[in-house]
Amino acid sequence: MSSTAVSERGTAPRPAAFITGAAGGIGRAVALEFARTHNLVVTDRDPAGLLSTQHQASLLGAQTVHRSADVTDENALRELLAEARTVFGPVTNVVACAGIAPGGTVETTSLDDWHRVLAVNLTGTFVTARVSISSLRETRGSFIAIASDAGTFGAQDLAAYVASKHGVVGLVKSLALDFGAEGIRSNAICPGFVETPMMRQIFDESPAGTEEYYRNAVPTGRFAKPGEIAKIARHLTESNYANGITYAVDGGSTAGYYRAPHTS
Ligand SMILES: NC(=O)c1ccc[n+]([C@@H]2O[C@H](COP(=O)([O-])OP(=O)(O)OC[C@H]3O[C@@H](n4cnc5c(N)ncnc54)[C@H](O)[C@@H]3O)[C@@H](O)[C@H]2O)c1
Repeated sequence: MSSTAVSERGTAPRPAAFITGAAGGIGRAVALEFARTHNLVVTDRDPAGLLSTQHQASLLGAQTVHRSADVTDENALRELLAEARTVFGPVTNVVACAGIAPGGTVETTSLDDWHRVLAVNLTGTFVTARVSISSLRETRGSFIAIASDAGTFGAQDLAAYVASKHGVVGLVKSLALDFGAEGIRSNAICPGFVETPMMRQIFDESPAGTEEYYRNAVPTGRFAKPGEIAKIARHLTESNYANGITYAVDGGSTAGYYRAPHTS
């Protein structure tokens, strides 16, 4: 059962940003970045996390319309945007953040897990774009998908995730070509590891030493903070000529082979 709610403040003359996966991690950071200037339309499968995002956004002056739903549920997302439209008008910025990253090779990933990863990461991004296009056409707005460095680069033991994120990068390029002439700009952000619950889960399920191995592969010597990805989302939103970009934000880890100075 999903629920929709509107926070209790007067209508403000702000544009509206629609963010999926907004209950935590990168999605919440993106929501709070936009809360400084926009009203919010947020969704996630985690209702408690959404309420917390709403509360934090209200402290930044944003009104929020929120609904807990699975990102693959087209009807739920359409209803959310329809309700938000009555309060804010059509959304101007969309950021698709919802995602999952269970590990596994082709041999160790079950068919059910494969379908689920493709459904949430790739179909979820498709559904988010599909329900948003008519609003973005009206506002000549921006669509951003949080893909991954795994959208341009392979990663061991993450076969379904890598495949889904390569799909997201391809989908965003199609959006850029199909809707650019109507003023809708579509771009993909490809972060390396970002300090969120997803990253923690990946390393907790990996062999000892995996986290250190990946940190040593980042020339800047550390993983990203969620707010650093949110700043790139704002930057792309405000960059009127950016369309069809695959924007790596990974501390240089996909720039080439790298050996940290202190490693042998
Ligand atoms: N953390 C990283 O290292 C990293 C790196 C590159 C890309 N990404 C991508 O960034 C995005 C955000 O990841 P994160 O690190 O913030 O992860 P996270 O697990 O911290 O947050 C993901 C959010 O998506 C929500 N979600 C998951 N499945 C959903 C579903 N079916 N319907 C609705 N909501 C759902 C979760 O409830 C959660 O709030 C993902 O697409 C992820 O693949 C993350």
